[in-house]
Amino acid sequence: MAMMWAGRFSKEVDSKVNAFNSSISFDGRMYGHDIIGSIAHATMLGKCGIISMEDSEALVAELKNVLKEIDEGKLQLDMNAEDIHMFIESVLTERLGETGKRLHTARSRNDQVALDIRLYLRDETEEIKSLLKNMINVLCDIAEKHTDTVMPGYTHLQRAQPITFAHHIMAYAQMFLRDIDRLNDVEKRMNQCPLGSGALAGTTYPIDRDFTAELLRFSSATVNSLDGVSDRDFCIELASAISLIMTHLSRFSEEIILWCSWEFKFIELDDAYATGSSIMPQKKNPDVTELIRGKCARVIGDNMNLLTMMKGLPLAYNKDMQEDKEAVFDAVDNVKLCLSTFIPLLETMSVYRENMRNAAAKGFINATDCADYLVKKGMAFRDAYKITGGLVALCIEKKTDLEHLPIEDYKSRSELFDNDVYESISLDTCVNMRSSKGGPSPESVREQINHTKKTLNKLLHSAHNYVT
Ligand code: ARG
Repeated sequence: MAMMWAGRFSKEVDSKVNAFNSSISFDGRMYGHDIIGSIAHATMLGKCGIISMEDSEALVAELKNVLKEIDEGKLQLDMNAEDIHMFIESVLTERLGETGKRLHTARSRNDQVALDIRLYLRDETEEIKSLLKNMINVLCDIAEKHTDTVMPGYTHLQRAQPITFAHHIMAYAQMFLRDIDRLNDVEKRMNQCPLGSGALAGTTYPIDRDFTAELLRFSSATVNSLDGVSDRDFCIELASAISLIMTHLSRFSEEIILWCSWEFKFIELDDAYATGSSIMPQKKNPDVTELIRGKCARVIGDNMNLLTMMKGLPLAYNKDMQEDKEAVFDAVDNVKLCLSTFIPLLETMSVYRENMRNAAAKGFINATDCADYLVKKGMAFRDAYKITGGLVALCIEKKTDLEHLPIEDYKSRSELFDNDVYESISLDTCVNMRSSKGGPSPESVREQINHTKKTLNKLLHSAHNYVT
């Protein structure tokens, strides 16, 4: 097939080079956005009198046909084409002759591809946000059911202080809220229209860049044509925001993996979200969460890939930049896949309240509360800390715990101890008393749930409605 740019060349490009250069296998997925961009461009060309209204209308009508045919599978992408932009243009030219050839007036593939990626990623970002919204709603639902499910809170993976399962779950809700906020922020800079930057130096035609920006629902046109075609910051920012979402999912996955081990047994995954072993009949493996933890690594790799690909490039467009798509698409695909698998996994898992409570009842996680008891009776915290440490040692020696240590033993260490100590160090008291803002008490967590729902609404409300 003769290339669009064949005029300058006296022989055919080697077929291996053609195959090497071709990007349609991965940019083909942008066909809808490419066509929408071309419809805006053709409309502008007609409005500004750069092509006739008749040509403009014919182009728009045929572009719509092509879109419909590809959507319906009636028109197949030609994998021998150089890229999606060339493919669509060649179909138009085949069908409309001269008129088809006029579409590329006052445009270059450089501003075209910069436009397409922004349009494509803008829609994908909205989808990721909507998955995050589902995730947060599911987390709030789980938390609502478990405001009084006591579990151990950990530091260094050692039992530390009692919390509730709701409190633990709502910590993740905050991470995902920040993720939505970050995506909103990424969208702000993504949502500028590079169309009309031309190859690098704009154009001599009297185009109207603000008009196309508005047609395509961008907040403005990019300011500098060199930057317009060579900026991929929005890909890097998106991949970076996605890396953080994946990092959150990976930490959560790690906890799920621990929690469904026999050593913890805080939860059990639904059979539909776990897998068996080919040899060990007793096994029920948390493959999904392990795979999410694994995929986090490749998405961080995608982000690195984009940064290193860009770091040495002179202005403006360089072919290296064609590599942006596979990296950023991989990040987008994987985060969507992980979120949409993880959400129902959480929704369907069983929570073993008793096991959580039993784990909290061991390990002296009420030792801080025992020390606080003495402080409330007038002792300095450091002294109270030391006495409680001694009591813990005594419990270990006597193979008992603070709840069951006789009052005489308490009194032998400090006269301030009385029978009310047992009430003060009971697990429920320990949790209920931690009612500081953001704390684990049922009341504090209910407030966190309300706050989260309000913030979620605000974050999604402040966002633009793009749907193209
Ligand atoms: N397929 C190319 C890409 O993805 C489109 C831009 C080509 N521009 C060029 N000057 N060769 O980057």
